[in-house]
Amino acid sequence: MTGRNKITVVGAGNVGATAAHWIASKELADVVLVDIVEGTPQGKSLDLAQAAPIDGFDVKLVGANSYEETADSDIVIITAGLPRKPGMSRDDLLKTNADIVGKVTDEVAKHSPNAVLIIVSNPLDAMAQVAFKRSGFPKNRVLGMAGVLDSARMRCFIAEELNVSVENVTAFVLGGHGDTMVPLPRYSTVAGIPITELIEKDKLDAILKRTANGGAEIVGLLKTGSAYYAPSLGAVEMAEAILKDKKKILPCAVYLEGEYGVNNLFVGVPVKLGKNGVEQIIEISLTNEERAALHKSAGAVQELIDVLGI
Ligand code: NAI
Ligand code: 2OP
Repeated sequence: MTGRNKITVVGAGNVGATAAHWIASKELADVVLVDIVEGTPQGKSLDLAQAAPIDGFDVKLVGANSYEETADSDIVIITAGLPRKPGMSRDDLLKTNADIVGKVTDEVAKHSPNAVLIIVSNPLDAMAQVAFKRSGFPKNRVLGMAGVLDSARMRCFIAEELNVSVENVTAFVLGGHGDTMVPLPRYSTVAGIPITELIEKDKLDAILKRTANGGAEIVGLLKTGSAYYAPSLGAVEMAEAILKDKKKILPCAVYLEGEYGVNNLFVGVPVKLGKNGVEQIIEISLTNEERAALHKSAGAVQELIDVLGI
């Protein structure tokens, strides 16, 4: 990747537009914002471009309803999708969003054959699998964002509980993005000290439960939508690690082929991100209980893949 970086964000809704905002304010790359709704990506890009003189970021922002402008993007963040509507079953939503993500992926892959795809659309792990299969891209160039968000939520709750800086807190969450996600307190620390030594069991259990329920908590408060500040920044952190070849270890949904005993499935695990996308899948040792929880979570993702038949 040479010269100016280019990131396409598909879906100019809450997550997509906010991702564009973070990318611009970090001056990470030029941004092309794409949506099917006429005017929305153009209007949001123009508004953001007009913030540039105030904040002083030098990036080009373009909005579009088609993919010509997205050509040769280094990274494409896919946030396109529909929320669940009344009367729609989970499987209906699954199939609708799989259709949207599939069609978006076709366009993206055609115009940016060398891009790294970061999927955000839900249900996350299954949508990453759709993008992987439809793009035909190698597995190091398709990944899903969920673990960064889920672990950030856990870090936020730990910092609050202990009244310490969030900067001191690391947290690990594995598995699919859903109720069955697997927060790992043994690998979560405050200034290097495992949280199991700092937080008593009942309080820790409450934090783990709140983490797994993190998305629903915000939906319950917002009532008309889901979280977007932290989710969009999670995707942008992954993009930044790739563009800057940081070799940063982050929990991401990636295609597993035997790692952790999971086969041919996207599930969240720690990976090293650099200029080639996923450069290493890191296998940490798990207790029998942790491993069983990860497999249960992978089983929930597999059920969705079976419904889609991919
Ligand atoms: P939103 O409804 O605000 O935006 C979605 C946008 O996608 C809309 O502007 C819509 O017009 C657009 N869209 C629909 N079909 C399209 C297509 N074929 N091509 C281009 N654009 C299309 O939703 P929000 O809040 O931005 O969430 C986006 C997705 O991200 C949802 O599926 C949501 O569940 C998911 N999400 C995932 C998270 C994660 O941790 N992985 C966290 C937060 C949200
Ligand atoms: C979240 O965790 C809805 O997946 C979304 O906030």
